[in-house]
Amino acid sequence: MNKPILVTGGTGTLGRVVVARLLADGLPVRVMSRRPRREGDERPYEWAVCDLAKGTGLDAALADVRAVVHCATNARNDVAAARRLVEAARRAGSPHLVYISIVGIDKVPLPYYRSKREAERIVRESGLPWTILRTTQFHDLVATMTTVQRRLPVVLTLSGVRVQPVEVAEVADRLAELVQGAPAGRVPDMAGPEVRDARDLAAATLRAAGLRRRVVPLRLPGKIARTLRAGGILAPDRAVGKVTFEQYLAARTPPAGRR
Ligand SMILES: NC(=O)c1ccc[n+]([C@@H]2O[C@H](COP(=O)([O-])OP(=O)(O)OC[C@H]3O[C@@H](n4cnc5c(N)ncnc54)[C@H](OP(=O)(O)O)[C@@H]3O)[C@@H](O)[C@H]2O)c1
Repeated sequence: MNKPILVTGGTGTLGRVVVARLLADGLPVRVMSRRPRREGDERPYEWAVCDLAKGTGLDAALADVRAVVHCATNARNDVAAARRLVEAARRAGSPHLVYISIVGIDKVPLPYYRSKREAERIVRESGLPWTILRTTQFHDLVATMTTVQRRLPVVLTLSGVRVQPVEVAEVADRLAELVQGAPAGRVPDMAGPEVRDARDLAAATLRAAGLRRRVVPLRLPGKIARTLRAGGILAPDRAVGKVTFEQYLAARTPPAGRR
C-alpha cells in the first residue's frame, strides 16, 4: 500500500492543495511538473518531470503508482494530454484515474470547455477505473478576473452573468476523498454556497484590495454570452461548498495596517 498517488499539475492552483491534503492524510505522493524540482524543496513527496504536451517523462511518472489525480491543464493541448496520460496509465497497470472537470461544459460552447468534454470522454472510455468530478469556478479564478484589470481605469464584467465560486481547498478535500475511494464514475457536481452576480464579485474583490474602480458590465452578443447569462455554469442544487467569496477574500487579504 506504499505506492504513491500521482498528482498531475501538482504545482498548480488546485494541484498543490491536493498534494498538501494527501500528505496531511499520510499518503505517499508524486508531483508531476514540466520543471525540475526546486532546489531546497524538502517536502516529503516524489517529483516526476513530465510534459504531457510533448509526451516526455510519462512512463517514469506513472511507474508503480496506486492512483492518479489529473489536475494538469493547458488550454491548447488538454485533449492530447489526456490521451497520453491514459495510454501511459494503461501501460503502468491501470491505476484509478480521478479527473477534475467543470460544471456546464456541455452547455457553454467555449473552446476550453469543448476540450474538457473531449478529455472527459477519453477518461470514460479509457478502460481504466475512473472518477470524474465537475466543479464551478474557484474563488481564485473569479478574483483574478478582476485583479488582472487593476491597471485599467475601469473593470469590465459580463452583464447578467451569475457565478457560483467554490473554495479550492474544499475541492481538493473532495478529490483526496475520491482518490482514496473506489472508482465512482461521474460523481455529483460540486458548486460554491452562493449564486452571485459577476458584477458584485468584481466590486467585492476591488473593495478587499482597497482599489477604487468603476465596474462596467458589458452585454456581449453570441451564444457563449447567452448560455452564460442563462446560468450555464451554475449548479444551484449542488451548492455544497461552505466557504463564501467574502470569506475567501478576507482570508487572503491581510488586515489593514499589515498590508
Ligand atoms: N480554475 C478554476 O476555476 C477551475 C474550476 C473547475 C475546474 N478546474 C480544473 O481544475 C484543473 C486545475 O486547474 P488550475 O486552475 O489549478 O490550473 P493551473 O493553476 O493553471 O495549473 C496548471 C497545472 O498544469 C501543469 N501543466 C501545464 N501544462 C502541462 C504539461 N504540458 N505537462 C504537464 N503538466 C502541465 C502545470 O505544471 P507546471 O507548470 O509545473 O509544469 C500546473 O501545475 C484544470 O483541469 C481545470 O480545468 C479549474
